[in-house]
Amino acid sequence: MAKKLFIETLGCAMNVRDSEHMIAELNQKENYELTTRANEADLIVINTCSVREKPVHKLFSELGVFNKLKKPSAKIGVTGCTASHLGEEIIKRAPYVNFVLGARNVSKITEVLHRNKAVETQINYDESEFAFKEFRSSPYKSFINISIGCDKQCTFCIVPHTRGEEISIPSNLIVDEARRSVERGAREIFLLGQNVNNYGRRFSGNHKKMNFTQLLREVSAIEGLERIRFTSPHPLHMDDAFIEEFATNPKICNSMHIPLQSGSTAILQQMKRGYSKEWFLDRVARLRALAPETFISTDIIVAFPGERDVDFQDTMEVVEQVKFDQIFSFKYSPRPHTEAEHYTDVVESAVASERLSHLQAIQDAILDEKSRHYVGRRYRVYFEELRQDGYIAGRSDNNLAIRVQGSDALLGTFAEVEITQSARLSQIGEIVVA
Ligand code: SAH
Ligand code: F3S
Repeated sequence: MAKKLFIETLGCAMNVRDSEHMIAELNQKENYELTTRANEADLIVINTCSVREKPVHKLFSELGVFNKLKKPSAKIGVTGCTASHLGEEIIKRAPYVNFVLGARNVSKITEVLHRNKAVETQINYDESEFAFKEFRSSPYKSFINISIGCDKQCTFCIVPHTRGEEISIPSNLIVDEARRSVERGAREIFLLGQNVNNYGRRFSGNHKKMNFTQLLREVSAIEGLERIRFTSPHPLHMDDAFIEEFATNPKICNSMHIPLQSGSTAILQQMKRGYSKEWFLDRVARLRALAPETFISTDIIVAFPGERDVDFQDTMEVVEQVKFDQIFSFKYSPRPHTEAEHYTDVVESAVASERLSHLQAIQDAILDEKSRHYVGRRYRVYFEELRQDGYIAGRSDNNLAIRVQGSDALLGTFAEVEITQSARLSQIGEIVVA
């Protein structure tokens, strides 16, 4: 009889892909099948994120809960970025944990499973030529890694420590994986990396050299593939050729995540982001000139050490000027193994909270204003989710989350939808042309 696997995935899209890979490995080599109930699982895996401090605290309380409800024979594994950075400390603090497997080592899941108290967290382990195994959370779209690790040293970020140095995956592997996905019915692919438009910076062997723009062209030549998305590009590497390809290639979706982090050039320098406020605004202007309808999302950190009122005002100026379609905003959280951890000019917590609330209130008002314009407009939607409330949900080319009443026969198909009701981040519509 098949054994049962319960897996919880926290954090970014790369973690989602790592989980898919572990699910496939465990299924093919160890006959595990997924369950959504931890209490009936033979193996419980938490695939963790360590980008901010809160989820790390939560991990230990969650582990305690799982330990109480699990079957006595069940094993518990901690994988992902927190596994990478805490390593054996996890087993010291939670001795019932059976193994700890770092974000760079997920291919070893079936190996550590059989070793008592295994801890595998090497970051120079090279998985770049390792084609990830086939398991897809969604049959309609496929996540595909194009690089592992990150070579940037943003001073707030723990990811280079947990995921190691950046290596690009050979383009033939990426194209093959995309082609296979399309043959199996996915019409959208999502290219993943910590810094996708730095693709081609380093290969582990003598592979065909190419940059991200060229990779996009190669992937878009796949017949039957209709949509390409990617995350995340870095503003510094948004050259004109990349923006032009983005704007003119009909398969590339009209949505771009451009992580700002801060609008203050002085803070950006402290963060070692490599660009200025002006460069960021220039790239957005270039993008909007060539592709005016592009949905632009961003990440912003408030209250980085040394952030003064004037710096925060710079961020707000960018927010008000760009009018992002979505902002993921965070209070700065000091992380171990980062340069900023040692910065002493910490912003008071009350000030940080105030800035975050202010930013979010302004952004809400911007979105309320934007959402007024959606009603009556038509978008081509790719349906991919049957929701609990009975709606069929999908996304437009420009990344609006749109849902309609309809049957699940719509899943995996495209239709033209007119928006009838609009809210900040979700739209309701009716199909006008199927
Ligand atoms: N390049 C990655 C970034 C990973 S971290 C990507 O493409 O997804 C995701 C976001 O978390 C960052 O863009 C940043 O806004 C936020 N973040 C990272 N470290 C942080 C910290 N120490 N405190 C608060 N937010 C942080
Ligand atoms: Fe982190 Fe900066 Fe890389 S945010 S993942 S170090 S680009």
